[in-house]
Amino acid sequence: METMIKVIISKPQYHAAFLIFLIFFLFLIFTEYNLHLEHSRRTRNIPNLFSEHDLRLPREDNSLMMLEGQQRDQIADEGNDGPVVDNKDDVNAYYFSMLVTEEDIEDFSVKLPDTLPNFKNPCWIEMVPEDFSYTNVTLYYQLFCLYPENQPHGSWQDSYDYMENLIHARKRYAVGSKAWRIRCFPYFFLLGFTKCGTSDLRRTLSFFPDFVDGITKEPKFWNKIRLRSYHGADMLPRPTLSDYLDLYDMAAEKIRSYVFVTEEGDTYHPAIIGDFDPMTVWKIPMWRKIKGNENRDAPKYLTPHHLHSINPNIKFMILLRNPVERTFSHYKFFHSKNNRKVQAEMFHDDIKKTMQTLEKCFRDNAIRTCLYQPWKSNITTIRSVTGSVYYVYLEDWLEVFPRKQFLFIRSEDYFQNRTAVLVEILRFLEIDSPIPKYLWRNLATLPVINRSITSKMSNKTRILLQEFFAPMNRRLVSLLEDDRWRWHF
Ligand SMILES: *[C@@H]1O[C@H](CO)[C@@H](O)[C@H](O)[C@H]1NC(C)=O
Ligand SMILES: *[C@@H]1O[C@H](CO)[C@@H](O)[C@H](O)[C@H]1NC(C)=O
Ligand SMILES: *[C@@H]1O[C@H](CO)[C@@H](O)[C@H](O)[C@H]1NC(C)=O
Ligand SMILES: *[C@@H]1O[C@H](CO)[C@@H](O)[C@H](O)[C@H]1NC(C)=O
Ligand SMILES: *[C@@H]1O[C@H](CO)[C@@H](O)[C@H](O)[C@H]1NC(C)=O
Repeated sequence: METMIKVIISKPQYHAAFLIFLIFFLFLIFTEYNLHLEHSRRTRNIPNLFSEHDLRLPREDNSLMMLEGQQRDQIADEGNDGPVVDNKDDVNAYYFSMLVTEEDIEDFSVKLPDTLPNFKNPCWIEMVPEDFSYTNVTLYYQLFCLYPENQPHGSWQDSYDYMENLIHARKRYAVGSKAWRIRCFPYFFLLGFTKCGTSDLRRTLSFFPDFVDGITKEPKFWNKIRLRSYHGADMLPRPTLSDYLDLYDMAAEKIRSYVFVTEEGDTYHPAIIGDFDPMTVWKIPMWRKIKGNENRDAPKYLTPHHLHSINPNIKFMILLRNPVERTFSHYKFFHSKNNRKVQAEMFHDDIKKTMQTLEKCFRDNAIRTCLYQPWKSNITTIRSVTGSVYYVYLEDWLEVFPRKQFLFIRSEDYFQNRTAVLVEILRFLEIDSPIPKYLWRNLATLPVINRSITSKMSNKTRILLQEFFAPMNRRLVSLLEDDRWRWHF
């Protein structure tokens, strides 16, 4: 080596050759570095979840720890390559399930598969077809009418990119190149009503460790999308339950990676997801598209029937606000162009006309028929009133699901003391994970989400509305057997 260097230094004719070699060497290093950069650029967006544990399933997954002994032995007997799952029975034996989501929800043929026993939320493992990809995101935007305020946890596209990367990575470990994903159906629904504080409740719950958010607050799936009741529907493929579940795929992965180990060494996944769409309980303009409703004056089948056939154990929460205030808030939301005040006179005139329209309808028809009427003109004004006749909608839901699966919350109570109501909500949802003290302290002072503009309604309008709603509230009081639904008028 030493002699080589001496030779190079002493013989000037070698200098040029050495220089060329040096440049070439540096160039090699530079190229290699660039390739490395390129690689890390491509992999930077892939989160750390891609550990082998997250890719291999079923044998190494915690969720299988609680399988019956025999099944666990069976799994243990399989070689290191994992079980061979090539028919449906085997698939079920390993808690792999296929949810037949292409079937019609309206046929009552869609049921949740067996869910994982150590998950609080109904979840299951699903095989992913070989040619899997999420439906293109433009389609999702159109389907789910996304609003920016509905996505607090990163963009829609990021979620699907993340899931696609995860699933492609899993294929490398998969049996017969079929990857898997975990699917979850909401544990609870916050059903309504519009303008009663559902946005605030959703945000508040998202601070608690056991709550995981889906991609959007208002999927509009149950009252609109599944019935293709949206602009340009005929141009798009028919949405399936699978499209709806996709909204919760990221959340499902979070539920899976959030594990408790009990003293006995059992694992438990306590986190839950909810659907927070405040329209689900009352607004379903195209109910005649549901099979069995076609030629009726009023619907026979509604969302509760379909939800019950999919999962009879769902828990429902409903916020109800003084119907006069709710009506005004709803009206302001749709009539205050550019955040301008709503004039008391304009509100009064519209309400007076609406009362006449509705009372005319009530003379010739059942109230229920009028409320489900897909009105053609002045629709937002009419809905600001019909959306406050709570008992009619609640009767439809309570006919299908037992009373104990509902928690009714008075919005005024919630706005006044969120903490007290949250305690009730956590009990209802059977949340028993410890809640940090600071969370309670912070929530006590956190301002309520309020997008309402300041406008006054005149006393004569208030009286008109109170007279209209008083008998409706009496029906609500007897339906829910509780006097607080009278709101003192
Ligand atoms: C995505 O979906 C939209 C709406 O259906 C369609 O116009 C577009 O061509 C699709 N893009 C791709 C890449 O498939
Ligand atoms: C509803 O619309 C009609 C015209 O389409 C109008 O004459 C009527 O005054 C409107 N009623 C209300 C309550 O706005
Ligand atoms: C709210 O309710 C909680 C629990 O019932 C109670 O401890 C607290 O004092 C209440 N706060 C207010 C401001 O009333
Ligand atoms: C929301 O804001 C409006 C206008 O400032 C106000 O009148 C109303 O009382 C507020 N609602 C709540 C629940 O705080
Ligand atoms: C409206 O009613 C409130 C309470 O009932 C009363 O204090 C107020 O003076 C009334 N306003 C008008 C303009 O009559």
